[in-house]
Order: sequence, then C-alpha cells, then structure tokens
Amino acid sequence: MKKGIIIFSLLFVVIYLLAQTKPKTASQGGTDKASVDRGKKIYDIYCLACHQADGSGVPRLNPPLIKTKWVLGDKKELITVILKGMDEPIEVDGEDYNNVMASHAFLKDQEVADVLTYVRKSFGNKASGVISSEVKTVRATMK
Ligand code: HEC
Repeated sequence: MKKGIIIFSLLFVVIYLLAQTKPKTASQGGTDKASVDRGKKIYDIYCLACHQADGSGVPRLNPPLIKTKWVLGDKKELITVILKGMDEPIEVDGEDYNNVMASHAFLKDQEVADVLTYVRKSFGNKASGVISSEVKTVRATMK
C-alpha cells in the first residue's frame, strides 16, 4: 500500500515536470500576452518619455501612437520607423509634426517585436502582434 502511494507520487511529479517543459505556444516569443508584458517594459524605458504613458504624444512635438496609419498600417513600415527613426514632416490627426525620432536599431529583434506588439494592442489599438522574424527580415533588407 505504501509502495503504491510512493509510485503514484513519483508518477505525479514526472507528469508535473513534463507539463512544465511543454514548448511555448505561438512563435518564438511565446504568447501575445507575454510579448505585450515585455513590450510594456521596453516602451516605458525607450518610448514613454516622448510618446507618453497613454500613447497620446505631445502636440506638435511627438505624434500620438493611437490608431495612426503607422501603428495600424503595414508592419514593415512600422518596424522601419523603429529601426531607422523618422525625420520627415508628417501629419497625424490634423496636427503637423516635423521633429526627429532617433533610430532604435540597438534594440534586439525580439525587443522591437515586443514593443510594437504592445503598442499595436494598447492605447485603444487592436491590431495583430509583431514577431521577431518579421523584424529580422526588415533589418536584413534595410542594410
Ligand atoms: C526622442 C523622442 C522619441 C522617442 C524616444 C521615440 N519617439 Fe517615436 N517619434 C518621435 C517623433 C518626433 C516622431 C515623428 C517624427 C517626424 O516628425 O518625422 C515619432 C514617430 C513615431 C511613429 C510614427 C508616427 C506615429 O505617430 O504613428 C511611431 C510608430 C513611433 N514614433 C513609435 C515609437 C516607439 C515604439 C518608440 C520606442 C521604441 C519611440 N517611438 C521612441 C519621437 C520619439
């Protein structure tokens, strides 16, 4: 009887350990939720000062990240904005911006993917996430 309990417990431990090592879902970066969580941390460090915690930006200085054509539009162009920066006159919500955003090419592919997934799913935006292989492709074709 005692033996049975021990064997049963061992079996339970083995099953538990197997469950823990189950491969992560979705692409390289795990789930969108995990990517959003990591992306928020990156946003707070590298983007918040200019684009604000709620993505609303600063009028005539730093454009908002709320439902703009860059944020919701073609992912390649959005990724390019992060990797190359931006310094051309643009118009967002009827407001003109002609300031400089520096290149953030120093961020790793996964970090760019995470911060853009966060941005595309926050501030009222509801778009698909970005994965690191998409960033990798844009980075490779940029050089
Ligand atoms: C030093 C301030 C600054 C920082 C830091 C910064 N940006 Fe920007 N960002 C700008 C400015 C200014 C523009 C517009 C540039 C222009 O007028 O050509 C811009 C443009 C953009 C755009 C395209 C326009 C729009 O509103 O949709 C996106 C997307 C964007 N930034 C995202 C980010 C993300 C994500 C980060 C962090 C990784 C970041 N920015 C960091 C200042 C900044």
